[in-house]
Amino acid sequence: MAQIGPADGFETLAIHAGQEPDSQTGAVVPPIYQVSTYKQDGVGGLRGGRLAGSAAGPGRWIEGYEYSRTANPTRGALEECLAALESGARALAFSSGMAAEDCLLRTVCRPGDHVLIPHDAYGGTYRLFDKVMGEWGVTYHPVPVSDPAAVRAALAEHQAKLVWVESPTNPLLSVADIAALAQLAHSAGALLAVDNTFASPYLQQPLVLGADAVVHSTTKYIGGHSDVVGGALVVADTGLAARLAFLQNATGSAAGPFDAWLTLRGVKTLAVRMDRHCRNAEQVAAMLANHPGHEVAAKQMRGFGGMVSFRHAGGEQDAVAMCGRTRLFTLGESLGGVESLIEHPGRMTHASAAGSPLEVPADLVRLSVGIENCDDLIEDLRAALG
Ligand SMILES: Cc1ncc(COP(=O)(O)O)c(C=O)c1O
Repeated sequence: MAQIGPADGFETLAIHAGQEPDSQTGAVVPPIYQVSTYKQDGVGGLRGGRLAGSAAGPGRWIEGYEYSRTANPTRGALEECLAALESGARALAFSSGMAAEDCLLRTVCRPGDHVLIPHDAYGGTYRLFDKVMGEWGVTYHPVPVSDPAAVRAALAEHQAKLVWVESPTNPLLSVADIAALAQLAHSAGALLAVDNTFASPYLQQPLVLGADAVVHSTTKYIGGHSDVVGGALVVADTGLAARLAFLQNATGSAAGPFDAWLTLRGVKTLAVRMDRHCRNAEQVAAMLANHPGHEVAAKQMRGFGGMVSFRHAGGEQDAVAMCGRTRLFTLGESLGGVESLIEHPGRMTHASAAGSPLEVPADLVRLSVGIENCDDLIEDLRAALG
């Protein structure tokens, strides 16, 4: 089989990067290596690894397999694929998006360090900064990341080690100009991390725009079928990659083989799913054309994604009632699966931000628009709106 390389298109990489047919059997899908340990050919004689920069691609950096916390071939296949899709040097797959975030923060930050975070970040990310990292002496400052002038001012005021960005944000869908923020962060001596969960690498590649690290909850669009929880980090710098891999192994937060396999199965259809998510979401939210982030999003994204958030004119009670009235939109947390979901962020996904500067509006409803028939979805929402 011809080698897969960076010149291949996104859809080709999604299906083939890290997934060449099994050398022994020819199986076209990487097997689930449900194994904890590996036979060694003499002490230290590890088998089967691939060296950095080999023809197999830059994503796999191990010299052999010894123990699955350190490296596992199924996880390695997923990591190689994700590195290719984000145009990164290396990817690491985790047991959840939060585990990936934790690994990045504890690799980059030390007690006394300061981080700028979105003033409308995902509630779990806020909780990690506010309730966990704070205990270890890492402080944070919320900033509207869609406003580069505000980020510049915050960087001048607080000496930050890291600028943490989501774009679009969860759940308010603010859009950050990633290239502009990369310049601002770097000129202040900070790194830029981008949580690319909402866009997915198909719609937006933060490393190409100058970010230092990409974070994913692969639970969402990358996995795409609401059947697995996972996370990933992708970086351009091999030194940073080695430090992340060290902590991942030292603390044991890697994805298991079956979860990695399920995620890799989802990745294969990411492009076609995202096209359909975008098309359906644009129809559900025709008003997106007037979204304040539209111009920047159009500059750095291939499409606008499948998430729609809106404030119910009837207030909190009507917003909550609507969430319980849909037929096809399932009431539930999470997002990015083929099936449509509806939720009330204030009482569900973002309850942990209640009473904080990151509290979301009480009348907010969030939709994860799936890939069902769009007329059916619109009819469902119309009926639920009453
Ligand atoms: C933007 C974003 N980042 C990170 C996470 C955390 O990922 P996980 O739930 O896989 O730990 C989520 C989860 O909803 C999210 O929406």
